[in-house]
Amino acid sequence: MSCNTRPSADPGAASRTDFSPDEVAAVYRAINERRDMRHFRPDPVDAEILRRLLEAAHRAPSVGYMQPWRFLRITDPAVREALHAHAADEQTRTAEACGERAAEVHRLKLEGIREAGELLVVALTDGRERYVLGRRTLPEMDLCSAACAIQNLWLAARAEGLGMGWVSLFDPDWLADRLDMPEGGYPIAVLCLGHVERFYDRPMLETAGWDTRRPLEDLVFQDRWGAPCELAESPDARESVTGPDGASGRGPA
Ligand SMILES: Cc1cc2nc3c(=O)[nH]c(=O)nc-3n(C[C@H](O)[C@H](O)[C@H](O)COP(=O)(O)O)c2cc1C
Repeated sequence: MSCNTRPSADPGAASRTDFSPDEVAAVYRAINERRDMRHFRPDPVDAEILRRLLEAAHRAPSVGYMQPWRFLRITDPAVREALHAHAADEQTRTAEACGERAAEVHRLKLEGIREAGELLVVALTDGRERYVLGRRTLPEMDLCSAACAIQNLWLAARAEGLGMGWVSLFDPDWLADRLDMPEGGYPIAVLCLGHVERFYDRPMLETAGWDTRRPLEDLVFQDRWGAPCELAESPDARESVTGPDGASGRGPA
């Protein structure tokens, strides 16, 4: 199974990067070894690290520079419990909606809301209709921008040795109401963030037999939908001939 985007012996060799090979390797390592985490140790997240992670999120690109993301740090145990109960109910409803795979969905662990040291809710701000640049035909670009912020946080957390899980098992109206969001405020994520015993080697949904990563070649087209695109050989294929180069210091995530 290939899910490896590591560069080979000399990361950045074919590009004119001002990152050192170690820096390039570190970026790919964070990308490869980021996992959606659902098991956490209960110890708290350091306040300075939390600040750094939120800064990283806030450096994300955003359509028309609208910065639509809002972060709500959940510290009230009653809110955390309510979120957990709500997510559990939603998992049941999701299982029912999944038909013949219902039993599998019941068995999946899909959140670590109770265990994670930090719980963050990410929401789109109200008043987004005022922002038109880049959104006239694609208003959902606000959502894409906020997703970029979450990904920044996720990768930075991995580099800091912290796990994160994105939970979307909730009714946005219920959550908006529960957290007193203004009209137009729209929650898109409950983020479980915290220390972990170890990072999963593979996506949990893969380990659980839910799905597998598709080959990149099936997803990249040339000039028209469905037409195959000639890509350079994957680093995995090269490694299988030459052996791992150790550039990232790690095997495939
Ligand atoms: C928008 C979004 C919503 C997600 N919601 C959930 C969720 O509610 N529960 C969950 O267990 N995982 C959730 N995930 C994580 C995916 O299941 C996970 O990214 C995928 O299985 C691949 O695993 P990986 O992130 O470890 O590579 C979500 C991911 C994204 C991007």
